[in-house]
Amino acid sequence: MAPHHSRQIIATSALPYANSSLHLGHLLEVFQTDAWVRFQKMRGHQCFYIGGSDSHGTPIMIQAEKLGISPEQLVRQISAEHQQDCADFCIEFSNFYTTHSAENQQLVESIYQAHLAQGNIHKRTIKQAFDPEKKMFLSDRLIKGECPKCGAQNQYGDNCEACGATYSPTELRHSYSTLSGAKPIQKSSEHYFFKLQHFETMLHEWTRQGHLQASVTHKLDEWFNAGLEEWDISRDAPYFGFKIPGESEKYFYCWLDAPVGYLASFKNYCDKTPGMDFAHFWKKDSTTELYHFIGKDIMYFHALFWPAILSGAGYRTPTQIKTHGFLTINGQKMSKSRGTFIKARTYLDHLHPDYLRYYFAAKLNEHIEDIDIQFDDFIQRINADLIGKYVNIASRCANFINHSFSGQLSTTLAEPALYNEFANAGNEIAEKFDQLAYSQAVRHIMALADRANQYIDEKKPWAMIKDASRSNEVHDVCSMGIQLFRLLTLYLKPILPKTTEAAEQFLNSAPLMWEAKDKPLLGHRINAFHPLLQRIDKKQVDAMIDQEKQTAAETRLEIKKSYVSIDDFAKIDLRVAKIIQANHVKGADKLLQLQLDLGDESRQVFAGIKSAYSPETLIGKLVVVVANLEPRTMRFGVSEGMVLAAGPGGEAIWLLSPDSGATPGMKIK
Ligand code: MSP
Ligand code: ZN
Repeated sequence: MAPHHSRQIIATSALPYANSSLHLGHLLEVFQTDAWVRFQKMRGHQCFYIGGSDSHGTPIMIQAEKLGISPEQLVRQISAEHQQDCADFCIEFSNFYTTHSAENQQLVESIYQAHLAQGNIHKRTIKQAFDPEKKMFLSDRLIKGECPKCGAQNQYGDNCEACGATYSPTELRHSYSTLSGAKPIQKSSEHYFFKLQHFETMLHEWTRQGHLQASVTHKLDEWFNAGLEEWDISRDAPYFGFKIPGESEKYFYCWLDAPVGYLASFKNYCDKTPGMDFAHFWKKDSTTELYHFIGKDIMYFHALFWPAILSGAGYRTPTQIKTHGFLTINGQKMSKSRGTFIKARTYLDHLHPDYLRYYFAAKLNEHIEDIDIQFDDFIQRINADLIGKYVNIASRCANFINHSFSGQLSTTLAEPALYNEFANAGNEIAEKFDQLAYSQAVRHIMALADRANQYIDEKKPWAMIKDASRSNEVHDVCSMGIQLFRLLTLYLKPILPKTTEAAEQFLNSAPLMWEAKDKPLLGHRINAFHPLLQRIDKKQVDAMIDQEKQTAAETRLEIKKSYVSIDDFAKIDLRVAKIIQANHVKGADKLLQLQLDLGDESRQVFAGIKSAYSPETLIGKLVVVVANLEPRTMRFGVSEGMVLAAGPGGEAIWLLSPDSGATPGMKIK
């Protein structure tokens, strides 16, 4: 049982979507959380690190469809991959679960019922974009078209990457569904809405009670000022998620059940762990603490919806939301073609997890600033700090102790004042860890490492050892060096779990807890010293980036495989033709029947251009036709070729037309 003064804490990282691999940005977040949890445990607190996969939603459904597997299969595979990546990066979850679980469904339904009973949820009919071919409602991200402001092509339904304009998908010109190419239509459907406005007073107070960083509160004020809006918590079939009770074709929006996944993962943990009481941690006014670590992009869900959902359903609210910025590489967004979209696995194939953990720590603070990795700086920093300063202390002292003093440390401290200086620094370093001011903790620790090296430099045990009468002094100095190294190990432990575990083994020490800093290892026997970490060679970093570049190139190559050779191309007989007749086809909703003049012959062709052209506008037009296409018998007659057109479909179809001067029958080369 934990001592009565210890705190009981749950910490979470955002649940990554189970449709793609983790990258260095995800690692930044899980590292920040993991180091904090490790620190709290070293302080003697009960701290649970709860994680899982976010398994629902349209992108997961579509990705599974593309791969020809079920969404459940996809989620299982990716979730297992995420867990392995995290384990190899020394991320120590107490439990890692999934939002697609019985526990989560049961919790989501009961939370929904509670809000329904209180009148916080109501239904109304809305109009939305719908893909008439795929028979599916389309989110803004599934619609593309031409920007209404600047005319850039292929822009998403919500904003233009070329000019930055934001708009609704109905404003896009020549819009099309990215799933089928069809033009979206507007279709009505009944949706469930959560009345966030009912929580306005509660949230206004909650957002200024120290649960958020000041800049987050500030950002949320923009939303308060604009007026809180009700939140659409339902989605129409087809969807991968939980069905809304009493509905057959409607599902809960994945962002409703995603944060409930924190509770579900914890519930799953309690059910298999003796002595754990779910309600104790989640009941209203619980004395336990709850911290959510998240990136700045998902602040709105965690700082507004989530506390409202929890409090309305009778649960406790988070103690704090800890929001961090985004990771960039060499000053830029991660990019596949530059090889800087680095997957967690690729990093781990080439480099030690503690290198990156240290670099993240050296850069992270409690503010919402973006964090940049400069790889040259990364190499230099690891080699200078970890190998040049920290590990160096042990390697300078260990061999003397092991060879000349049979591994035994002195029974007294050579420099008690220096030891106390190091031990006292632990209080401030602890404060920095607790506040997530990791970069300040690291700076402080490295200043101590400099001080320890300076001490050894001054004493020069390697010179003293030549004088047999100074043997005791060598013993004391090197023992002192090891004592200081031990304190640095203790302070670095939340950041460098793997390296410090090896150091504990060398020190022949039980796992270090924070309070152990005040008790030096006097008269203690240490073990043989093995180098704890190797210097990074630039080649390792280059190899990692090359591997990502190659992955990007291979994807391009796959596209290349569908290229045709010039000889293949020559087999296609492209000709100029003139449309001499164009007619509607009875019973066909996309086709027009065209009669084409090819110079010395006339052909009938059926073309799927009815949605973009009316027949009378086509007469006399020059087009390009594939003249040797195998004739195809259709319901309406034989099609003897194909006219070429561009565009996604619907109204957005443009016939290819040669410049005037070309004459029917001309071969196109
Ligand atoms: N599934 C949601 C979270 C649901 S939580 C109930 C989600 N998943 S995510 O995979 O897109 O992101 C997971 C976390 O990683 C988020 O906190 C996100 O901010 C963070 N990051 C994703 N890319 C990142 C960087 N480039 N840099 C830092 N953090 C990043 O959002
Ligand atoms: Zn634009």
